[in-house]
Parts: sequence; C-alpha cells; structure tokens
Amino acid sequence: MRLKNKVAVITGGSRGIGYATAERFLEEGATVILTASTGENAQKAAEKLRQKYPNREILGISPDLTNGEEVRRSMGEVLARFGRIDILVNNAGISESTAFTDYTEELYDKVMDLNVKAVYHATQAVIPSMIQRGEGVILSTSSMVGLTGQPKGFAYPASKFAVNGMTLSLARELGPKGIRVNAVAPGITETDMMRAVPREVLAPLAASVPLKRLGRPEDIANAFLFLASEEASYITGVILHVDGLART
Ligand SMILES: NC(=O)c1ccc[n+]([C@@H]2O[C@H](COP(=O)([O-])OP(=O)(O)OC[C@H]3O[C@@H](n4cnc5c(N)ncnc54)[C@H](O)[C@@H]3O)[C@@H](O)[C@H]2O)c1
Repeated sequence: MRLKNKVAVITGGSRGIGYATAERFLEEGATVILTASTGENAQKAAEKLRQKYPNREILGISPDLTNGEEVRRSMGEVLARFGRIDILVNNAGISESTAFTDYTEELYDKVMDLNVKAVYHATQAVIPSMIQRGEGVILSTSSMVGLTGQPKGFAYPASKFAVNGMTLSLARELGPKGIRVNAVAPGITETDMMRAVPREVLAPLAASVPLKRLGRPEDIANAFLFLASEEASYITGVILHVDGLART
C-alpha cells in the first residue's frame, strides 16, 4: 500500500499508459481521478476500474486540457471534493508522423497544445494547494524521442524536450517547497498510439532493444508508481528512461 490515502490525478487515464498507471496506483491504495478526451471515455474507464477496485474512490472527468480556465475549474472541483491532490501525472498526449515539408501550423499547434500547454495548465492548477501543504508530486510522460529526436514528427519530439525542460526547471523551483517533479520517458510501448504502426516496422525495433521486446504499459506504470511513492522521496528533476535500452 505504497500510495495509501493519496489522491492522484492522471491525465489521459482512460487507456494505454495512463490506464495502467491508474490500475497500479489503485492497487497501492490511491484514490484516482482520471481524465480522458471525452466524458464517455472517462466514465467508461472509471467504471471498468470500479469493477476491479470496488474499495477505491475513482472519478472520470474530461476537461479540455488545452483550456486553462477549464482545467483550473476542474482541478478546483477535485480539490473541493477530495480535499487535496497529492500526485499529478501529466500523461495525456498525441503523437504524429508527418514529413517536415508537409508539416502544418495546425498540426504543430495541436501537438504542442496538448503535450506542452496542457502540462502547464494542469501543473499550475494544482501547485498552489501543494505549496500550501508543503508537499506534492508532479510527474509527466516524456518519451525517448525527447532525448534523440525523431524523423517525421517535428512537434512531437519538440514537445517532449519541452516536458523535460519544464520538469528540470520546476524541480529546481519547487523542491524547496516540498514538491518533487520528475518524468518518465517511455520507449516504444504497446498502446493504441503504436497500434497504427505496422508490425513489420515494430518487429525490427523490438529486436534492436537489448531486452528484446517493446515496452508494456505496466512497465511505465511501475516507474510512475516508484516516483510517486515515498521510496523516491530524495529523487527530483529526473527523466527516468524506461525503454529497455542500454545507455552510456
Ligand atoms: N506508446 C508509446 O510508444 C509512447 C512512447 C513514449 C511516450 N508516450 C507518451 O505516453 C503518453 C500516453 O500515451 P499512450 O501510448 O498511452 O497513448 P494512448 O493514445 O493509448 O492514450 C492517450 C491518452 O491521452 C488522452 N488524450 C488524447 N488526446 C487528448 C485530448 N485532446 N485531450 C485530453 N486527453 C487526450 C486519451 O484520452 C488517452 O487517455 C503520451 O504522452 C505519449 O506521448 C507513448
């Protein structure tokens, strides 16, 4: 019960990495508020989790994460209902694969609005109450391409470099206030996001990983659990790579 009595908000918690993280947090005793892009998806995911974890409090909500006003209102409602937010996981994100010559401003804005601006909105909405209590954990989902870059995906890797930058900066600024800020950078992980990529493309990638497989959502969820827990109480400003790769 590593997260007993903790209240966690997980954006993009309706499927994939966010859903697996919700499951892991619930197993360890947390109350979980998950967000999804639609109310229906949020409700469905929350209901599925309630069936599995009947003794936990679970809420599904769907604020437009790119709208600061709406995010503040939504987090305010969560704070009013649950009393506090101990852990925020900024996980909602979209990727894309477009040659740079075809890249549009619209696509650029779409990726940056969710992958970067939403992290800013959600984090800013929860930070005042964390500062007041002198504790809190902010976690975000980065990506291995936030270290390496990625052909055909201009804004996506840029957005993950931004997540890393925000993580490192906030860790320095908020550490003295008792708040830890870290990110997890997954490698290729088997979720809906990757389902569009053909098997013949994924198979050689898996073969090139020293651990000889692609990531599973649970691999990333376990890293989030560790960073959210007291076991990581002396860890901040870390981008934890969970990608099966060996680095120098
Ligand atoms: N799957 C991978 O290989 C991989 C690798 C590195 C990083 N990531 C990152 O992991 C995070 C989760 O990705 P995933 O693979 O679980 O993807 P996914 O597509 O399975 O899930 C994405 C989640 O984000 C939410 N979301 C999508 N668009 C939204 C919007 N406009 N507003 C609000 N919520 C929205 C969805 O509701 C969903 O819960 C993302 O930040 C992604 O960039 C994934």
